[in-house]
Amino acid sequence: MKTYIVEGGRKLEGSTYVSGSKNASLPIIAASILNGGITKLYNVPNIHDTKIMLKILEYLGCKTKRNNGKIVIDSKNIKLHEIPEELMREMRSSVIIVGALLGRLKQATFSYPGGCDIGSRPIDLHLKAFEKLGVELEEESGFIRCKSDNIIGTQIQLDFPSVGATENIMLASILAKGETVIANAAMEPEIVDLQNFLNKMGANIKGAGTNNITINGVTKLKDVSYNIMPDRIEAGTLLCAVALTGGKLELKNVVPEHLTPVIHKLEECGCIIKIEKDTLYLQAPKKLKATDIKTMPYPGFPTDMQSIFASMLSTAKGTSIIVENIFENRYKYVTELNRMGAKITIEGRTAVIKGVRKLSGANVKATDLRGGAALILAGLVAKGKTTIMNIEYILRGYENIEKKLRNLGAKIILKEGE
Ligand code: UD1
Repeated sequence: MKTYIVEGGRKLEGSTYVSGSKNASLPIIAASILNGGITKLYNVPNIHDTKIMLKILEYLGCKTKRNNGKIVIDSKNIKLHEIPEELMREMRSSVIIVGALLGRLKQATFSYPGGCDIGSRPIDLHLKAFEKLGVELEEESGFIRCKSDNIIGTQIQLDFPSVGATENIMLASILAKGETVIANAAMEPEIVDLQNFLNKMGANIKGAGTNNITINGVTKLKDVSYNIMPDRIEAGTLLCAVALTGGKLELKNVVPEHLTPVIHKLEECGCIIKIEKDTLYLQAPKKLKATDIKTMPYPGFPTDMQSIFASMLSTAKGTSIIVENIFENRYKYVTELNRMGAKITIEGRTAVIKGVRKLSGANVKATDLRGGAALILAGLVAKGKTTIMNIEYILRGYENIEKKLRNLGAKIILKEGE
């Protein structure tokens, strides 16, 4: 078992950079099976989830090579269309391979995906959209079989702007006959990155970044090289980690506009932030101020930053209120934060955070990816030693987070095998 051990009480200062985006890499790696050729990707984070996506591709028949942030995928010889249950269970985003398989082979068989337990995470919107595209679905002993003779462009109105469903529709329809329009599409920057990647591969997609995306089916795709966008959630996590310790940060490789709601909230808490091209400078106040947050689909405040802010606000001056509007059960980490002395109460979708003067080190367990990162942040300011267990969750989504924090002056180590 791997654990993080954090000794709190150090002000973080210095310069670091943001790795490639996890949530952009996953659909783009899945999409690489569409061209039946060579895809070269740069700036892919070396984390558990990208490894799982590559494993799925290898299982299906792709050849893959990885060298730091560079990945080469040869998808010429895909033979299988069935994704093994154990790989589907590893992470929720495995479902994105279904759209890519439908695009390439017009069929896919899979079981319900797993992932972090942050509430029921159905895939009904994905399945409804596939049916609208002319795919026949059959469910049998926990497996879903999707098959179509011809995927035909159509109008799809999403009931909710689901990120995964929007991406799956894009992947399933780029080689379809005719035009597909997604109304009420998710507008997240990762969807723009996927559109840019697919268009570079020869697709004809317009509108990503708005709530209306149009995909004109093409008959052929080509080899492609692509540089993955920076991870806005990692960027936000690093900014909050430094802000919480009263420190100072130069953060490189960011797209500032992706971070607008996060920057705005950090400023409300008293931080001074300067933007220069792809670099952000943060100067934290001695004591952060409380603020209120509502998570929303992009361009609203991201749900993935909710636990990070809760952790940061637990020692701010005053009472903060957070409302989680995207996932129904995203407060599991709160029990662990309260063990460290935080004063957070939950009522349905609302968390009330009464700022305390200090947190104390404790033995805590990561409950999910972002909730786990929130515990690292708490450990950075807690008095004494914090041991975080179940850090496999954190390793799913953060590349070298402990090294980056150490370089800024944190005392954190990753301990293996206890
Ligand atoms: C993606 C992100 C995740 C982020 C989330 C919301 C990736 C790999 N993951 O997840 O980090 O927290 O967007 O910004 O990009 N829903 C349904 N039915 C569906 C699909 C979704 O009810 O068929 C619900 C979900 O249960 C959830 C909400 O819609 O309550 C948002 O989910 P969605 O936008 O699909 O998130 P993911 O794509 O899973």
